[in-house]
Parts: sequence; structure tokens; C-alpha cells
Amino acid sequence: MTNTHDPLLTVTWKDNSVVLIDQAKLPNKLAYVRCKNYSEVADAIRKLVVRGAPAIGVSAALGLALAAQQSNANTLTELLTDLDRAFKVLHSTRPTAVNLFWALERVMGKGKLANTLQEAKSTILDEALKMAEEDIETNRKIGAYGLKLLQDGDIVLTHCNAGSLATVAYGTALGVIRAARDSGKRLSVIATETRPVMQGSRLTAFELLYDGIDVSLITDTAVGHMMATGAINDVIVGADRVLHTGHVFNKIGTYQVAILANKHNVPFYVAAPLSTFDFESAPNDVVIEDRSVDEVVKIGRKRIAPKGIRVFNPAFDMTPPELITGIITEKGILKPPFKKSIKALIG
Ligand code: MRU
Repeated sequence: MTNTHDPLLTVTWKDNSVVLIDQAKLPNKLAYVRCKNYSEVADAIRKLVVRGAPAIGVSAALGLALAAQQSNANTLTELLTDLDRAFKVLHSTRPTAVNLFWALERVMGKGKLANTLQEAKSTILDEALKMAEEDIETNRKIGAYGLKLLQDGDIVLTHCNAGSLATVAYGTALGVIRAARDSGKRLSVIATETRPVMQGSRLTAFELLYDGIDVSLITDTAVGHMMATGAINDVIVGADRVLHTGHVFNKIGTYQVAILANKHNVPFYVAAPLSTFDFESAPNDVVIEDRSVDEVVKIGRKRIAPKGIRVFNPAFDMTPPELITGIITEKGILKPPFKKSIKALIG
């Protein structure tokens, strides 16, 4: 399939609303949701209408801009009180992806520096729009560095969706694949289904087919077999949080993929912008989101497990630095030991 479509734009600002691709409806329908106030943006983040660390961050920033535009405050102090309320609601939507907190703090910080009510309203919107633009540029830089790691003919496994749909556009892990393809390398992608929410089969498979990139789908449980039979040359995944120690938090199942890659000598790369780095937390400080039981006991509306069954549904896991070959950022590729290379990167 060759690409005859416009690029997918996951998050946009249009007519004083935040417009999101409705990822809950993919792959069956490419539909858009218009969020008219910050509560609707918060709801969309909670319900995975928009998901993926960078896309969540930019959506929340634009959500805060909506709160600023719609505030009836008469003074700057009143506006900051209104913004604080919106900030708290948006901040509490999802706990693991650090981009959410980074984005909200960056935009709020701008608002607090303003001298007038009007200045605060416009500076907040400008900053959020700037973040949306920066996101695409950053992903392209990650792609430009990362493409050097892939050889012509490689078969690359990815888990979850760290693509265009997880960012404003282009993607992080899938951005590397796009950049390699655009540089003339012939690549095939293996996407894992990514139970329980199926970001791999619903979103990665959709966006790669949409973009004309060769992709095959496997169950999560087929990763070991595929690696043992030599069918995978590289793994590239995204991240929800990268610690200064090089520990990577990403979609549940990433850790298993990393262990298998290590066992079978398959390079395991993480692609992440610096906005996904958390320079303060220790591994135990990070809250792993626990999601609804329904995601596990049902597929769509159909129940697939008996009523009354106890369920654990952690949405993320942590991959330790010793399993990671390299972390691709917009400033270059970090190599182990990560504590040292990350420190050198941020100065
Ligand atoms: O629960 P999700 O779909 O928001 O989880 C997304 C992931 O785990 C992605 O791999 C991660 O956010 C990287 S996005 C570039």
C-alpha cells in the first residue's frame, strides 16, 4: 500500500478547540473529537482517546490554553486561580508518562511570568502551540539520529504505539522507521498486538499501513519464538519516562521484550525526546498506572473471563538499563553506561 493520504495529525488547535484523532475508534474509523473545554481534554486523556506520552503532554498544554481562553477572570490573580484548577484536573489524568507534568508545568510557568491578564492568556496559548510544533521537529531529529542504527533489509520489532498517533505527528520509535525508510532503506516492521488495549494491532498496524510501510502483526506471546528463529534484527520502542539512571518505563510487556532481545542478542533501542526524561525520580518513585479490570476481562464489549476473577492490570513496566543497547534522543544516541551518558548530555 503506498501513501496517498495527508499525514495524520493527532493533536491540533482549531477554532478555539483542541481537535484529537479519536484513537478509541481506530482502526475501524478515522474520526476526530473536538474538545471545547479543558474538562473534555482531561476526559479524552483518561479514556485513551488521545494517548502516548508526547501526545498526552501537548494535549494537556492545549487544554490549559483552553482554560485560559475561557476564563472569566477580571484580574491576573483570578486567572491564575482558574488555571490552577484546570492544571490539577489535567495533572491527575494519568500518572506514568512524565510528558504530562513537564508540559503542564512549562505552560503554567509561562502564565506565571506574565504581567497582565491578557499577556498570560496569549503567552499560554503561544507556548502550547510552540510545543506542538517542537514535537514534530524533535521527532524528526530523533529519526535522523536513529536511522543510522538500522540496516537495509532489517526486520524491526516494536511494541505498543510510539508513532505518529502517540505524538503530534511522525512518532519517536516509528519516526526512526519513517526516517530510515525515507533515506532509502527497505525495512519491515513486526508489531506486537500489545494486550490489553491493543495499541499495536489497532494503532501501529493502522498508521504503518496508512503510511505505506511494510508491517506484520504478531501476538505478544510470539516474540520469543520470532527472536529464537532469527526473524528480528532490532527492537525499537518508545518510552513514557526515562530516569537519569537509564531505567525506562514503557507499555506493559516492554520488559519481557527487552529480556528476550538480550537473550537472543537482538539490539534493543528506546526512542524518546528529552521531555520524556525524569532527572529526579528513583525507580521506586514512579507510579505505575493501574487500569480498569474491564480492559482485561473484555475484548471490546465481549466478556472473555469469568465473572468474579481477580485481575491485575498494570499499564506500564520498567526496563532496567542493562537490557538497553541505546536511547535515541533529539540530541544524539545515548550509550551505556546511561548514568554517565545522560549526565554528559544535560551538562
Ligand atoms: O497507555 P498508552 O497507550 O498511553 O501507552 C503508550 C506507550 O507506552 C508508548 O510506548 C509511549 O507513550 C511512547 S509514545 C512515543
